[in-house]
Amino acid sequence: MARKVQHSLLTKAKTNKKDEFYTQLIDIESELKHYENHFKDQVVYCNCDDPRVSNFFNYFSINFEKLGLKKIITACYKNKENNLNENGFFSEYISDKGEKDITIEDKISVVPFNEDGDFRSLESIELLKKSDIVVTNPPFSLFREYVEQLIKYDKKFLIIGNVNAITYKEIFKLIKENKAWLGIHLGRGISGFIVPDHYELYGTEARIDNSGNRIVSPNNCLWLTNLDTSKRHEDIILSKTYYGNESEYPKYDNYDGINVNKTKDIPMDFKGSMGVPITFLHKFNPDQFEIIKFRKGNDEKDLSINGKCPYFRILIKNKRLQS
Ligand SMILES: C[S@@+](CC[C@H](N)C(=O)[O-])C[C@H]1O[C@@H](n2cnc3c(N)ncnc32)[C@H](O)[C@@H]1O
Repeated sequence: MARKVQHSLLTKAKTNKKDEFYTQLIDIESELKHYENHFKDQVVYCNCDDPRVSNFFNYFSINFEKLGLKKIITACYKNKENNLNENGFFSEYISDKGEKDITIEDKISVVPFNEDGDFRSLESIELLKKSDIVVTNPPFSLFREYVEQLIKYDKKFLIIGNVNAITYKEIFKLIKENKAWLGIHLGRGISGFIVPDHYELYGTEARIDNSGNRIVSPNNCLWLTNLDTSKRHEDIILSKTYYGNESEYPKYDNYDGINVNKTKDIPMDFKGSMGVPITFLHKFNPDQFEIIKFRKGNDEKDLSINGKCPYFRILIKNKRLQS
């Protein structure tokens, strides 16, 4: 029993540690500039954010008028284990409507929750229902549940997750059904996260910025969204052909389709199924390709070529060649 308790405490500590990555303003700005047309008259909800430190709140309050926002709601979670006497709270930020002599106190109200402010709590869900678009970097350890809730309440969203999230069956299903897709930046395109003082500064790109923030760059995150972008409607330029180069595209043992090792090598003349690496999703245009299946052949085992399995493949078909 003692061992069990010890183990669950360790797991919890590990989980909490992974959750303490705070997003930099620069990364929010470089992604959000691609979605400005979505925010007019909208209520934005940042439901995993302390408005005193969150750069999501910063970004939306700085750009409130420019985006034409109606309201920013920001909810701060207080983990009862660390803050035994503190409840979570939320803030609502509204426009000054161009009136002069308006103080920040007139624009923002702060209300305590009765509970901890967990995004799954009834109190937080009530705020979610009143919102149009959710934008944040949620706790990595609860990503599946977090996205499930957004879908359940039919919300627009733009959130940060780990690239591995694409391989979660629940998330892949959304991508396959065109209910979610990758945003503009991923991997090294997200420059790094601010970590607390007790957090180890690991990796060759770890640094302390001019403001004294401790930054780590895991280079393994992405933006996931259901807000449309122009990038999602750009075709992948195809320059290779299958016919005449068949040996470069071996067939799978357990699926009627060919293997393509790099997105740029997708042949322009192949009508059938093609297995492509998951990085394809960053370039995916749903008018050009259809996603058929993830990773598994007809026998529901990993796709293989002469007994060897290439790393996660997504099976696609070129829509423009189907008649
Ligand atoms: C990856 S951090 C990102 C913080 C902030 N959104 C940002 O991007 O700077 C995740 C945040 O979620 C908060 N959190 C953890 N569990 C939560 C829960 N169940 N409900 C709401 N927030 C939670 C943590 O306190 C942490 O601040």
